[in-house]
Formats: sequence, C-alpha cells, structure tokens
Amino acid sequence: MEEYSRTLNILGSIAMGIVGFQICRKVLPWIYVNVLGPKLFGSSVNLSKMGEWAVITGSTDGIGKAYARELARKGMKLVLISRSLEKLNTVAKEIGDEFGVETRVIDVDFTGGLDIYKKIREGTTGLDVGVLVNNVGISYNHPEYFLDLYEADPKFLHNLVAANIHSVTHMTALFMPGMVTKRKGVIINLSSTSGVIPNPLLSVYSGTKAFVNKFSDDLYTEYKAYGILIQSVQPGFVATNMSKIRKPSWFAPSPETYVKSALATLGFATQTAGYLPHALLQLVIHFTEAVFGEQFARNEVLKNISATRKRARRRLEKEQ
Ligand SMILES: NC(=O)c1ccc[n+]([C@@H]2O[C@H](COP(=O)([O-])OP(=O)(O)OC[C@H]3O[C@@H](n4cnc5c(N)ncnc54)[C@H](OP(=O)(O)O)[C@@H]3O)[C@@H](O)[C@H]2O)c1
Repeated sequence: MEEYSRTLNILGSIAMGIVGFQICRKVLPWIYVNVLGPKLFGSSVNLSKMGEWAVITGSTDGIGKAYARELARKGMKLVLISRSLEKLNTVAKEIGDEFGVETRVIDVDFTGGLDIYKKIREGTTGLDVGVLVNNVGISYNHPEYFLDLYEADPKFLHNLVAANIHSVTHMTALFMPGMVTKRKGVIINLSSTSGVIPNPLLSVYSGTKAFVNKFSDDLYTEYKAYGILIQSVQPGFVATNMSKIRKPSWFAPSPETYVKSALATLGFATQTAGYLPHALLQLVIHFTEAVFGEQFARNEVLKNISATRKRARRRLEKEQ
C-alpha cells in the first residue's frame, strides 16, 4: 500500500512538473505577447523612424484604411493603393487634411498581371519607404465547396490567389531592397485566423492566408539580421465590407479598434491574432484540437460553416 502511494506521489509530481513546464513554456509567453506586453508597454517599434513613407495596399476601406489613418497619426506620409481612383482621392484628402501629411495614390487592380507592379514602382520611385502594409485581400462571397466554386467561376480562384498571394510577394520584392540598404523597415502582412485554424468551405482563401503566415515567418528569419521586422497579422472577424458585419462588437471590432490593438503588438509578436478576443478564439480551437482531437475540431467547424453556407445560399435563391 505504501509502495502504491509512493508511486502515485511520484507520478503526480511528474504530471505537475509537466503542467508547470508547459505553463512556463507556452502560457506565460502567450500572456505576455497577447495581453501584458502590448497593454503595459505598447509597441516598442517607432514606425516613423523607419522611413518617411508608408505604403498600404487596399487602403480605401476597412482594415487598410485604418492602418493608413494610424500611420498618418504617427506622422508618416502615405502611398495609398487600391482599385478605384475616385475612392483613393477621397480617402487621401480625408486623411491628408486630418493629419496634415502628404499622400500619393496609385490605382491598380491586384487581380491583374505583372504590369501593375511596374506602375507601382514608377509611382514610388525615389521615396524613402519605411513601412509596407500588405493588406489587400479578397474572399468568397459565402462559404462554398471547392469544386462548386471552381465550376461557377474558375477566374475567381485565379483572382483570389493573385490578390492574396502575388500582391504580398511582389510588393515585398519591390520595397524590401530599399529597407535592406537602409538596414531598417517594417512589413505588416494581413493574414487571417482562417490561416491557422481549420476552415473548410473557404479552403482556397484560408490556404492563401496560411501562405502569408509561412512566407512572413521564413522571410523574417532570412532578413531580421538586416533590421527588417516582418509581422503576420491574423484577424478573426472585423466589421468591414468583406465580413459583411455592419455593427462592430467585442468579438467583431471596428477596423479602427482592431488596427490600434494589432499595432500595439509590433515588436512583441511576429505572428499574431492582433486582438485579444481573436487570440482567445485561436486558443480555444487549438485547445479543442489538443483535448478532443483534430478531427473533432475540424468536424465541428465544418458543421458550423455548412450552416452559414446553407443560409447564404437560401438568401441568394430568394434574391434571384
Ligand atoms: N474583415 C475581416 O473580418 C477579415 C478577417 C480576416 C482577415 N482579413 C483580411 O484583412 C484584409 C483587409 O480586409 P477588409 O475586411 O478590410 O477588406 P475590405 O473592407 O473589403 O477592403 C478591401 C480593400 O481592398 C481594396 N481592394 C479590393 N479588391 C482589390 C483589388 N482587386 N485590387 C486593388 N484593391 C482592391 C478595396 O478598395 P476598392 O474596392 O476601392 O479597390 C478596399 O480598399 C484582407 O487581406 C482580408 O483577407 C479580414
């Protein structure tokens, strides 16, 4: 009996040791990066010291416009890049007047061919670019099976990859050389929580966002010795045109709230949900995977997204 209780004690101590080790290794850094660091100290990176200009793609609306406003608030001059020249001019005037910073606009469609990058290069020649925000991205109209999506519009899948992946790699290739020469610069790439959790029925979108995470991570390792910081930001729902959420909430904040929170994580995290409720969502899903198994978590997400797909299809049928 005594032998039995001694064995139990030893096993208990080992289990406590493993839990304690995991808390020290994973939980404490998570709390520091997602809560304490950004809240107590704010970002340790002085963006306006990186260079005079910030370049932001997809900057006439949503998260991109919010990044543009925050960078202008820090005194940076802006190059705004989106599709519609009219919207670009309106946003450039609005932000320029409010923050007293110089702005330039470049209208390109990121679903287009390589010529658009020539136009961007020409429009930015000679500028001291210190910050690049690769924000532009497009998503499905509603969750859908891959083959149905392809059958409906194969060009759409091409456009999605062009806007979500090619834009990130080509914009980085355009602006990183200047940063490497100066040995300083910041690149912020907009990924998504869908790139780090199971996301069936949005498989091409979530695949492009997983690319953004991996590309950012490995590129950072390649170039951190050159003083370049690369951050992959992985929002959950934010109230923008893309999410079709009109009313901001705690879980789906306004783009302004989201971007303020995400910018505070610069210097603490190179891969981040950017906003505490979204970080908690990632945590819950990873916990569910660890405790109940990855297949269980995937099936639960599939059930949930299937219901969203059915509702969206019913709405579309009614509209037709
Ligand atoms: N909102 C969310 O819930 C959410 C969640 C996770 C990740 N994200 C990611 O965050 C980023 C921004 O999303 P958002 O919600 O802010 O999007 P949004 O509100 O739809 O705004 C998209 C911006 O990109 C521009 N744009 C769209 N297609 C373009 C194209 N083909 N060429 C050039 N510009 C284009 C739009 O301007 P014009 O239409 O005038 O061109 C607009 O300025 C995306 O990468 C998205 O994947 C968003």
